[in-house]
Amino acid sequence: MVRRSPTRAGQLLADHDVTATSKRVPQTRQGGRIVCKALAHTFVNARTGESVPALGTVDLVIEPGEFVTVCGPSGCGKTTLLKAIAGLVTPTQGQVLCDDVVVRGPGKDRGVVFQELAILPWRTVRRNIAHGLEIQRVPRREREERVAHFVGLMGLSGFEDKYPHELSGGMKQRVAVARTWAANPRVILMDEPFAAVDAQTRITLQEELLRISSLSSNSIMFITHNVDEAVFLGDRVVVMTKRPGTIKAIVPVPVPRQERTVEAMADPQFVSLRDQVLHLVRGEVQ
Ligand SMILES: Nc1ncnc2c1ncn2[C@@H]1O[C@H](COP(=O)(O)OP(=O)(O)OP(=O)(O)O)[C@@H](O)[C@H]1O
Ligand SMILES: [Mg+2]
Repeated sequence: MVRRSPTRAGQLLADHDVTATSKRVPQTRQGGRIVCKALAHTFVNARTGESVPALGTVDLVIEPGEFVTVCGPSGCGKTTLLKAIAGLVTPTQGQVLCDDVVVRGPGKDRGVVFQELAILPWRTVRRNIAHGLEIQRVPRREREERVAHFVGLMGLSGFEDKYPHELSGGMKQRVAVARTWAANPRVILMDEPFAAVDAQTRITLQEELLRISSLSSNSIMFITHNVDEAVFLGDRVVVMTKRPGTIKAIVPVPVPRQERTVEAMADPQFVSLRDQVLHLVRGEVQ
């Protein structure tokens, strides 16, 4: 893999003078370890009794600080898997452990960026990002520092007092990501967070996510339909079968995150990984 000079991502880092604020921002916590043990889920409609096996048996470990991307056909159970890890779905079989503790519901150790945009329309950018910190009762001064840090990091400077309806789609996505990240959970679960933005904004957001993820040690699970995105961001790409989804293959991406650039995606190693994942996913869609 050819080392490239830092691109826009590095430039943004310099522009926002991250180091000036990061000295005052508490270090990120050590990432959590997620273990899915023989996890499976079948939805049962309480009214009709109809059952939908959504997730087949899944065994998966996300190591502390690891960035795992998940690809698979629509409806194969990706969101169900994420919700089981988040504690929003109680699996019908198996269990999820977060740092050796069985997940029995949502917890502040696990933050979620949902598939449907989930920012609060009645709160400004600043107050949306502060939301998780307010729930955690983080003291005001520290809260303001962390919010300022993430406003800079996500390129939202100058928009702190705007409401979501005054922002572009890409900016709203950044607020959603910043809000989850600012709360500093040990595990961050992201469900297609960039699906609704245009191609150029998506690349910028991917670069920003790579950058902030390599500056922190949170463990990340990121669901996407986009094979390029999965390979660009993930330390490992999990490919799922069609519903009820099981793990078809796990493809490691042996390039440190800080060395990845959009230009480097044209390198033969990335092209070959992308082809491999695409082939696995397409095998399920047919
Ligand atoms: N609350 C629910 N009640 C009943 N069935 C559900 C529920 N949520 C999801 N399902 C079903 O479970 C299956 C898996 O859904 P899930 O949302 O996990 O898929 P997905 O892989 O995230 O799909 P997509 O890529 O389209 O987001 C689907 O058949 C879906 O209809
Ligand atoms: Mg989904």
